[in-house]
Amino acid sequence: MKIVTCIAPVNIAVIKYWGKRDDELILPINDSISSTLDAKSGANMCAKTTIMASPNFKDNKLWLNGKEENFDAVRLQNCLKEIKKRINPIGNKEDIINWNIHICSENNFPTAAGLASSAAGYACLVFALAKLYNIEGDISGLARRGSGSACRSIYGGWVKWCKGESLDGSDSLAVQLAPTSHWPDMRIIILVVNESRKKHSSTNAMKTSMSTSTLLATRAETIVPARINNMEIAIKTKDFAKFAELTMRDSNQFHAICLDTYPPCFYLNEVSHSIIEFVHAYNDFKKSTQVAYTYDAGPNACLYTLENNVSELISIINEVFPTSASREEYIKGIRVKTTELS
Ligand code: PMV
Repeated sequence: MKIVTCIAPVNIAVIKYWGKRDDELILPINDSISSTLDAKSGANMCAKTTIMASPNFKDNKLWLNGKEENFDAVRLQNCLKEIKKRINPIGNKEDIINWNIHICSENNFPTAAGLASSAAGYACLVFALAKLYNIEGDISGLARRGSGSACRSIYGGWVKWCKGESLDGSDSLAVQLAPTSHWPDMRIIILVVNESRKKHSSTNAMKTSMSTSTLLATRAETIVPARINNMEIAIKTKDFAKFAELTMRDSNQFHAICLDTYPPCFYLNEVSHSIIEFVHAYNDFKKSTQVAYTYDAGPNACLYTLENNVSELISIINEVFPTSASREEYIKGIRVKTTELS
């Protein structure tokens, strides 16, 4: 018997991935950039996966957040198929390749609420499988087969997913732009507006955007390439104002594409819109850009700011958006504080 347990954190995109040129291989139409939260303390916004392989298991099994799920799910099977191709029999002395496995995975944050749960989940699964079977080298392309954005959670700090050019996806991989220590006072505040599962899965919504949005191709071809360059420079030079403007503009554009999708996908709600207005009002009041918002496929806000603003921001947010329960959770490196909004 062999057991491995791994933890993987979510990543929060600042230049969004939206749209696939190949649905099966999960190849995107544009590059994207994100930061991966630090999971060393295991405290916040992580997936934790344990995989057990045994010659005595009669079947393969999968549990997600305590509930047994279908082991034959296409994306899980795609990941396993790709992983098996990379197994080196010499690195696995026992007959482990032929043993059945039991996978048990849980998230310590809302699943499928637009908070990158599938990114953390598949990154963790692939990392654990790679450990189980002693797979060496880059595994971001394997995580990509589970959920596109998962490839970015394989690396820490600032990460770029290069869309690649090849038809087989061999160059559609994640690379680390800079470690967390490069910008040590960067913080993320997550404002949980709604914990329920999103109405439109990103897979289905992306597909509909690809076939109906008249803005999506222009975004991917003419806007994102320059944005990626500028974002890389902003991160490299730690230019917060530039970083923040690019982040907010890209989030807004992604949600504009969602509205341009037919029928449209509404991910943001009234509270999300109020948070956007609040951030702009706060930056105006401060006469410089101190905070940036970004939203994935859900109403929950991720705010990027620097350490010296965090306590003031949290107390103002608690005033403006009163909540019954508010909690602060720190993780090392990029720090997360979670405030639940009513
Ligand atoms: O990896 P997926 O299929 O869950 O796509 C997620 C896409 C966004 O979260 C909306 C943006 C991104 O780049 O993470």
